[in-house]
Order: sequence, then structure tokens, then C-alpha cells
Amino acid sequence: MSDRSAATAAAELNVDVERRPRHIAVIMDGNGRWAQRQSLPRIEGHRQGVASVRRTVEECSRLDIEQLTLYCLSSENWKRPQTELDFLMHLLEQYMIEERSTIMDQDIRVRIIGRRDGIPDRVLREMDKTIELSAANGGTLLCLAINYGGRAEMIDAIRRIACEVQKQSLKPEEISEELLADYLDTAGMPDPDLLVRTAGEMRISNFLLWQISYSELWVTEKCWPEFQVDDLHHAIRDYAARDRRFGGLAK
Ligand code: IPE
Ligand code: IPE
Ligand code: MG
Repeated sequence: MSDRSAATAAAELNVDVERRPRHIAVIMDGNGRWAQRQSLPRIEGHRQGVASVRRTVEECSRLDIEQLTLYCLSSENWKRPQTELDFLMHLLEQYMIEERSTIMDQDIRVRIIGRRDGIPDRVLREMDKTIELSAANGGTLLCLAINYGGRAEMIDAIRRIACEVQKQSLKPEEISEELLADYLDTAGMPDPDLLVRTAGEMRISNFLLWQISYSELWVTEKCWPEFQVDDLHHAIRDYAARDRRFGGLAK
């Protein structure tokens, strides 16, 4: 895959640029189930999941997808055993260090959404380094949702808006959809066009609640470690054939 040019990847996909999603968001689920099926510990599923992250990021970058958002850790995932959480933190730290040169080579810009509390300082340091280093890159925006929850994000936004109102720097009637969006972690990002979920669950699990109002959903039974470039192409092709109405009438 690595020697394929963007043009070749685009030709293989065979979807007009204007029919492609600008922003793809992924609920990367099923690492544990994948591992259990191979009689491996759950953490092996997370390790293999990182390989799927690499493939997916690389392909989105080749296809010149404007933004890829990956749900890495939800605010509810802290309920998991400490050993699993420690391993996830270790993988995050490793990813930030090991992928830095690829991120720079591929002109990828990294942003993180979610609350910082609870994330160990050493992981935050590596995250911040990658964000800073890649800040001026002009290719695909890779947005990682870490300790992210849609409800928590809205609460944080509403608190900040309430402070502005209290200081009288904002009037209640000035609160609009656009203003609220500007206070979310995703400020300045386009809403996801396509939301992919692996491992078959038909739920949102507190991901981007505000932003996915009109996203097209695509669910595969495959677990995240099994997710291949062909699956990504399949999702994009299906998306391209959909008729998005946004409450209006079919074109
Ligand atoms: C997704 O895989 C990764 C994270 C939530 C961190 P899971 O760990 O949820 O895998 P399953 O759903 O238990 O199979
Ligand atoms: C969603 O998966 C969170 C991530 C992929 C990071 P979960 O495995 O946490 O979702 P539920 O618990 O099955 O809804
Ligand atoms: Mg899961």
C-alpha cells in the first residue's frame, strides 16, 4: 500500500471527489471481541487496533479526506479495569511518539477533543508535542477523541457560555446553533458526513452528539482490528450513493 500514489488510490475508489465525505468519523469498536475470538487477552485487540488506525489514517490522507475523527477513549471507558486503561494509555503514548514522523511526512494535522483530566502527564506531553509539531500541516486533519463524551462536551460549552452571559459579554438571545458549535471541542471543524461504526452495535455511545445530527451512518459487523482499506472504500462508496436530504426533499 505504502508506494501507491494518491491518484491511484483515488482511481481505485472510483468515487467523484465531490461525492466523497469531507469528514469521516469512526467509532472503533470490537477490539476486545476480536481478541477473545482468537483466545487472546483483550489488550491484544487494542494493539491490533492501532494497526487499523495506521491503515485508516494513511488511506484517508492519500484520498485527501479533509478530516478523520477517531473515537479512541470515551468518558465512560474509565469504568474498565485499571490494567486495560493503563495499556490504552501506553498505546496512546507510543502512537504519539512512533507516528510523529509519518504524520509529518503525510502533512497530517493532529487535534484532540475530550477532557484532559485523567490522562497521565507523560501521555499529555506526547500528545501536545505532536499537536504543536503538526499544527501548520495542510493535509488531512486527524482528530482524536480521547476521554471524550458528547454530553460532557456540551456541559463544558454551556458552562463557558453561561459565564459570558454572567459577565454580560453575551446576551441570551445571541446564543445560536453557530455560537454553541463554536464553544464545543470541535469548534471550526465541519460536522461528520459519514459515521462508521465497527463490530455491529447500532448505537452512538455518546460520540459527537451535537455534530452527527445529519451524518450518514455506516455499520459493519467486522471488528476494528479487521477493518481494512477495502472496508473504508466500501463505506465511502455507499456514502456516495446516498441521498442526503437535511429535512428537505429528494433532489
Ligand atoms: C473499542 O473496542 C476500543 C475502546 C473502547 C477503547 P472495545 O474494547 O470496546 O471492544 P469490545 O466492544 O469489548 O469488543
Ligand atoms: C465506544 O465503544 C467508545 C470507543 C470506541 C472509544 P464502547 O465499547 O465503549 O461502547 P459501548 O459501551 O459498547 O456502548
Ligand atoms: Mg466496545
